[in-house]
Amino acid sequence: MEYRLCPSILSADFNRLGEQIQALERAGVKWLHIDVMDGDFVPSISFGMPVIKSIRKESRMFFDVHLMVSAPERYIQDFVECGADSVTVHAEACEDLERAIELIKDAGVKVGISIKPATPVNDISHLLEDVDMVLIMTVQPGFGGQKYLTECTEKIEELKEIIDREGLNVDIEVDGGINDETLETAMKAGANILVAGSYVFNGDLESNVHKIQNKMKE
Ligand code: DX5
Ligand code: ZN
Repeated sequence: MEYRLCPSILSADFNRLGEQIQALERAGVKWLHIDVMDGDFVPSISFGMPVIKSIRKESRMFFDVHLMVSAPERYIQDFVECGADSVTVHAEACEDLERAIELIKDAGVKVGISIKPATPVNDISHLLEDVDMVLIMTVQPGFGGQKYLTECTEKIEELKEIIDREGLNVDIEVDGGINDETLETAMKAGANILVAGSYVFNGDLESNVHKIQNKMKE
């Protein structure tokens, strides 16, 4: 299993964003998690296209764009044009999730679908053949720095079991409250793409990244 750390720039110091992204690249990070919030699907507002466009000029990392936005179909093309390499939409935010998946595919990037803690795996399991990644939220989406919800671990296990049983090639991403301890729980349950915001950006960025990378190698 190939594990990937995917730092979320939601916890970055936006006054030094470029610098911090370079530090992540130096530490060997290959994927960057980019949280877009609209103040409607989630209570808070983060940032959007202009920020992604700017950092795209300086970075060759894989841009994993997590849209916490109502009716995200409206913006898929825009985010791809700004430099997204994958676009993840929430099952709860789409009127027609299958159409959203089609739109992302047609735009030529990897497809992710996400479910909030209260949404059962069952709601999306019929779509696994059509996606590259499923993002299991392990906190209520909307803010960084929350505690990992342990009740979500069994959803990761359940999803992993279906993916293996059906012989599919779908990544399992987890997002929310990931640190050097919860990381192990999520990996054991079957997650292979680990998003971490506050854990990576609080304190020394490069040493935090190395701590996580070492755990992934164990
Ligand atoms: C929360 C976002 C997360 C957030 C994670 O809604 O989707 O990506 O940045 O932050 P931490 O790792 O601090 O929980
Ligand atoms: Zn996220």
